[in-house]
Amino acid sequence: MERTGYNKDFLWGGAIACSQADGGFNEGGKGVSTQDTRYLNPKWTAKEIADKHHNRPFTLEEFNAALQDDSTEFYPLRRGINFYNNYKEDLKLMGEMGLKIFRTSISWSRIFPNGDDAVPNEEGIQFYIDLFSECKKNNMKVFATMIHYDIPVNLVLKYGGWKNRELITFFEKYVTVLYERLGELVDFWLPFNEINAAKFSPWDGVCLIPGNEEHLDQAIFQSLHHQFLCSAKAVQLGRKMVPGKKIGAMIARFTTYPATCKPEDNMQAILDDQYSNWFYLDVMARGEYPKYIDRYFKQINVNIMMEDGDLELLKDGTVGFVSFSYYFSQVSTNVEGWEQTAGNLVIGKKNPYLEASEWGWQIDSIGLRFTLNQVYDRYQLPVIIAENGLGAYDTLTENGEVHDSYRIEYMRKHVTEMKEAIIDGVELLAFTAWGIIDIVSCGPLTMDKRYGTIYVDLDNGGNGSGKRYKKDSFYWYQKCIASNGEDLE
Ligand code: BG6
Repeated sequence: MERTGYNKDFLWGGAIACSQADGGFNEGGKGVSTQDTRYLNPKWTAKEIADKHHNRPFTLEEFNAALQDDSTEFYPLRRGINFYNNYKEDLKLMGEMGLKIFRTSISWSRIFPNGDDAVPNEEGIQFYIDLFSECKKNNMKVFATMIHYDIPVNLVLKYGGWKNRELITFFEKYVTVLYERLGELVDFWLPFNEINAAKFSPWDGVCLIPGNEEHLDQAIFQSLHHQFLCSAKAVQLGRKMVPGKKIGAMIARFTTYPATCKPEDNMQAILDDQYSNWFYLDVMARGEYPKYIDRYFKQINVNIMMEDGDLELLKDGTVGFVSFSYYFSQVSTNVEGWEQTAGNLVIGKKNPYLEASEWGWQIDSIGLRFTLNQVYDRYQLPVIIAENGLGAYDTLTENGEVHDSYRIEYMRKHVTEMKEAIIDGVELLAFTAWGIIDIVSCGPLTMDKRYGTIYVDLDNGGNGSGKRYKKDSFYWYQKCIASNGEDLE
């Protein structure tokens, strides 16, 4: 069959996450979540944010201070953009843009406020029934992430978080309720957002405070083992409870090229790829720990404690699709002193051929085609681009317009390369553009790092009208979707 571009049923979409968008952190019976504890002083300058906040791990002092404070002033993730109360208007705008699929995450602490409650919070369940029904009304399929970094904080206080195997039992209960009560409305399920966050951002990924751990890597990979088992459980349960629905895996994809054609750099690129990317997808898509990871675990002195049946569960619970976030690429080399640049909660190595965003993330649309080919070659499973987009400062003009030609340029190039990948033969199901409506950014916790095609009038301190405005990119994406990726002008 000749492939010339996007299939007629290609799913153009947009994505957000509950902790960055919803707000309503103490409404509707919701419990406190781990993401509700992340602090930002809105008076900090961009440089201070990068120094004090973005580039260093979460601390115990911060955590304890947050638990004593129930205000929203210094906790942007408690405010989000008030999607919790505004979702009808927001989904209507997305429907008008023509989105065919909407990705968001479910807040575990809305369903089970403490994580270990005997019965779920009915108000929380009803919220998601209403939200997802509203998506359907606006002709959008639903792509639901079960955990996008946030879990009920009680699970950390009482059980120590993901390090504790007991979390698997609580997770199983959570998933059972999700399938039972929301199964009809959700089309694609994703147990974990960017599961490799465990390593590159331990608080987000596995709720560990790095300074608190005697052997951080051991804690990270043990926690991750429990998450892998949860992912497999979600697949097993899904087979019975939501047959026909797709359940997938996701990583933050750190695409890397050898910095030079030196054999050493090529070897380094293979290792970087295995340790930062493939390991995670290999376990969930192939159903076993890959052999190369033994050597790495030995180097970092990690020894995973497993129980009988774990390996069988992993083998049986392999996913139905693979997905990733893709924002930038970097290079691999072990040359000392190679120039560094920022990336998604990581510091990467600079590629002299690429330009970067205002946050230093290197823009590389061809890297997306490269990644799609690699991922599909490796697993031969349908692929979803779960996140991609440009974080930028935007200006709202006096007449309520945002001229974001830089974002259109970014999207145009990435959509063009996605099409190339499809022609290459990649089975690409969907593209959910990140932060389709402006939300609080996850790394710096600011509003002024914006990804949306819809502008939200709020600043870093949560001040502003909260009104929504269509950016130029809104009209561009609308045209792109209406023409099924053909009209990109
Ligand atoms: C991904 C996360 O890592 O990157 C999102 O899944 C996040 O939650 C996105 O928002 C972009 O990062 P940031 O820090 O610019 O918001």
